Amino acid sequence: MKLESIPLDKIQPHPDNPRLFLREDVVEALARQIEEQGFADYHALLVRPLNGFYQVAAGHHRLEAAKRAGLEKVPCWVKEMTDEEAFMELVLSNQQSELTPLERGKHAWEAVQKYNRNGITTSEYAKRVGVAHNTISVLIAAYEVYRECVTRVTHLDFLQATHLRVISGAERQDWPWLCEMAVTNELSTRVLEEAVAEAKKITVPPELSEWLDQTELRKQAAADLQRKTGDRWAGVIAKALECWKQLPEKAETWKIDEKTDSAVKETLLLRRIFIQKLKEKEISTQSGCEKVKLEIINDLEARARAYAAWQARKVSEAEAERQRLEEERRRLERAALLEPKVYYKSCLDMSEVSDESIDLIFADPPYGISDGGVTVKSGKLVSVDKGEWDRPENVPDPESWLKECYRVLKPGGSIYISGTMHNIFDVAAALRRTGFTIQNDIIWHKKNAPPLMARQDMYAPSHETIIFATKGARPNFFDYEGLKEANSGRQMTDVWEIPARSGSETIKGPDGMPVNPAQKPEALLERIISASSRPGDIVLDPFAGTGTTLAVAKRMGRPSIGYEIDQRMRSVIEARLDSVEAGAV
Ligand SMILES: C[S@@+](CC[C@H](N)C(=O)[O-])C[C@H]1O[C@@H](n2cnc3c(N)ncnc32)[C@H](O)[C@@H]1O
Repeated sequence: MKLESIPLDKIQPHPDNPRLFLREDVVEALARQIEEQGFADYHALLVRPLNGFYQVAAGHHRLEAAKRAGLEKVPCWVKEMTDEEAFMELVLSNQQSELTPLERGKHAWEAVQKYNRNGITTSEYAKRVGVAHNTISVLIAAYEVYRECVTRVTHLDFLQATHLRVISGAERQDWPWLCEMAVTNELSTRVLEEAVAEAKKITVPPELSEWLDQTELRKQAAADLQRKTGDRWAGVIAKALECWKQLPEKAETWKIDEKTDSAVKETLLLRRIFIQKLKEKEISTQSGCEKVKLEIINDLEARARAYAAWQARKVSEAEAERQRLEEERRRLERAALLEPKVYYKSCLDMSEVSDESIDLIFADPPYGISDGGVTVKSGKLVSVDKGEWDRPENVPDPESWLKECYRVLKPGGSIYISGTMHNIFDVAAALRRTGFTIQNDIIWHKKNAPPLMARQDMYAPSHETIIFATKGARPNFFDYEGLKEANSGRQMTDVWEIPARSGSETIKGPDGMPVNPAQKPEALLERIISASSRPGDIVLDPFAGTGTTLAVAKRMGRPSIGYEIDQRMRSVIEARLDSVEAGAV
């Protein structure tokens, strides 16, 4: 090491001089001293030769003072040094000239950063500068805070290293606002320590970060030491996290759309909803968190109940619909079964009907009275003309159709044949010949029968005879009780008081006249069908006419078969049957 006088323009400050700024008062005092006494050799700078210049390792203040005092040269100790030696010299030779703790922290921090590879750890550094390891660590920590915040916090220099050391105990992201707070409020290190401790109580886990801003809460806690905001928020956060965990992440639910009456499947992200609600409602208490959790659970339960009710309603609606369809199917089946089968042909050949398949026959054959005679209608004398079918020459021999009736009737089946004196005796004789057993000759007394104006030498006819006969000695079925009930509790007699067909019941043609003057009143057929058949039994009418027997049988739940020779009756019968609702079988 040599002492040399070196021109000032050949001397350069060390770029890593730990001084954060030159002490103005120190530089000024030194400049005055140099002006008065000159630059003594024993104040020589310590420099190292570097790239044709001399780099200062110690004496930055003295160099600046010499410049101000107007010197051209200063005495320097010139020593060969490595970068590391020069860097370390910056602090070792500066120790007497009062580097601030922060400057020492800066030097230590940079030394460890730069020369760590050369073995300069914090403890090595502490050893080299002869300071306790702990002290160096504290100084480094303070400098780190300074370094982090110097560009962000105005007047950071107001803070002592002790403040910065306290702040270094907080999390890095909190350093700037803690510095700001310490500067603005001129906090003592004791209060700052409490503020850091209070702030550190608050940790917002990532699950809750959408709801709470950790930095904001920490600021609040640090600023509000009196109320122990940190403790309170720590409790709220713990509670919120507990509630958050208690909620399942997802729930599959159904939402009922009233408009379309449909259920729409929805996946609810319960934990997300929880956080959103906390945020929306600005919840800040433990009970608030619990309340929001329960709200979510209640809502889920309400949805489940609404869906169950909707489903139950749907099931019962579906069941009602199923029953309706089933009922409709049965009705159609019944209607199909009960839809009378009508053959528009002569009943002398009923080969379409199987032997012994019929339960009840009602026959209303032509009487053969349309023979040119006269009768009175509406007070006028008119010729008796029921139609072609009633002309004597068109009236079939009773035995011819009774044989077919006997063939198709079940053993024990019943047959009723209506007629007047013009044909009923022939019928009775034919019945016997055919093998039937006559049970009764019923007098159907027509109370409202018209008087016989044409003749005053005989009685006015006011009845028809209905022969009740069976295939075999006794009928299979005879509704004794039902008939008794219909006869006011007394056994039904063979004289029936049933009014003749009313005007409203009469089926009329386009000319306003009855299409068949012999159309029987439905009440008469109701009596016969209920007396001698059960629902489901098959009824046959060989002389269907307007279809009275078939219509009543359908309504009373009895399948039926009809024969009618007059083709014009087809539309009459079809229209009549269409208007009848099939009864229960
Ligand atoms: C007294 S009317 C029946 C009226 C019927 N009971 C009603 O209430 O309308 C007799 C019917 O038998 C029909 N007829 C006559 N001879 C027939 C035959 N051989 N086969 C089938 N029908 C016949 C006639 O055309 C006539 O419509």
